[in-house]
Amino acid sequence: MRLTINSLAVYEYGNIKKQAIVFVHGFPFDHTMWEEQVKVLQDKYYIVVYDIRGLGESYVGDGQFTMEAFVNDLMSIINDFDLHKPVLCGLSMGGYIALRTIEKEQNKFGGLILCDTRAESDDDDGKLKRADVINTINVDGLAKFIDGFVPNLFAEETQKEKKELYDNVMRKCKSHNPLGVKGSLIAMLSRTSTVDFLPKIKIPTLVLVGAQDKLTPPPMMRKMAESIKKSEFGIAPRAGHLAPLENPSFVNDMIDGFIGRKVLKKN
Ligand code: MLT
Repeated sequence: MRLTINSLAVYEYGNIKKQAIVFVHGFPFDHTMWEEQVKVLQDKYYIVVYDIRGLGESYVGDGQFTMEAFVNDLMSIINDFDLHKPVLCGLSMGGYIALRTIEKEQNKFGGLILCDTRAESDDDDGKLKRADVINTINVDGLAKFIDGFVPNLFAEETQKEKKELYDNVMRKCKSHNPLGVKGSLIAMLSRTSTVDFLPKIKIPTLVLVGAQDKLTPPPMMRKMAESIKKSEFGIAPRAGHLAPLENPSFVNDMIDGFIGRKVLKKN
């Protein structure tokens, strides 16, 4: 069912009495990037997906977003549904949101899944790159940025062998309101680091990365997993930065196995 909560487009699937998983998408995508997880996991879990403010069908407003506002949005959804100890799963920008949320509200969650993401904030070089992107969008338009940025997120074999999926993602990315896309960029470039918080994570955590992820490669993600006590680490074959989309069966098995072993057994 589709709902509007706090001006955000939110979708829920499955039975609310079951263990909840809340999925937070990456940049510049929308909730549909979790379609394959929703399809398979909704029989066993209660699934919540949503469009981050400014992207997809969520409210764009003035496009002035911060990571803190994204965290507040996520908590408004969790509070609205009154979810009990949901598992929080975020990919890349969704991972930044998840990590900052857990830093603030760890006791409200049953588990954490971090896909293709990082705890470091942007360094100066990263900030300048984001400024360049905002300029590209202003001068040449959103499509130009998407054509240059998004192909790099996929593994080469996904681009060749899953053409329909690839074309669909490209089309959706180009359909966002450019103001909302720039708002996400500003929120990312001004976010705080959660590196020092990693050793303080006490809830069960799964760290997942695509074998061919160029943005947050496996050695970087492994290091992150090593900083989190009792975390599990998995590398998805045949996947780049978008592992849940590119190799959904591997990612779904990892999520289901992890929740069964570490979250449900604990409850
Ligand atoms: C994402 O996939 O969410 C973005 O690549 C993250 C980023 O640009 O830092």
